[in-house]
Amino acid sequence: MNEDLQKRIQRAMADPQNMGELPDADAVGTVGNAECGEMLRLWIKYKEEKGRKVIDRATFQSFGCETAIAVASLATELIRGKTAEEALSLKTEELAGELGPLPPMKIHCAQLVEGALRSALDPEQGGTKTAKTAQAAIPVSSSNLLDNFAKPKEGGVRVILLDRKPTE
Ligand code: FES
Repeated sequence: MNEDLQKRIQRAMADPQNMGELPDADAVGTVGNAECGEMLRLWIKYKEEKGRKVIDRATFQSFGCETAIAVASLATELIRGKTAEEALSLKTEELAGELGPLPPMKIHCAQLVEGALRSALDPEQGGTKTAKTAQAAIPVSSSNLLDNFAKPKEGGVRVILLDRKPTE
């Protein structure tokens, strides 16, 4: 990753916007894969403005990398005041905003944000009050992203962290 991009990501990460659950959200979108640990959930709240239904607030939770968090932070600011259609017309690189062009290995981080946004905004994909998944089998009853990781999986391996005493 080039140094400029790293600096821009660090700047966005220094004060990430709109992190956390939005309890009275009108729509929720989730994408990712709990198995590999990259997940992002996005909440949307609408308001009426001059006869248009526009995005009042968008928030997110992420188990992605710094780039995904930086893009989600910028994207949730960018879509404020836009209609669902306007927000859906934004391209991946537009959502990344001032981060600028992302290197190929980081494009999927922005696509994670785009996928969650599409999942929340596009009625065809089920942007409803219930969390939906675009790419992974995530329990729809769960409203908090952390729940998806906290719940034990059937047939999986349970990892228990042990306290280690320092060796003398
Ligand atoms: Fe996978 Fe960024 S979300 S590396």
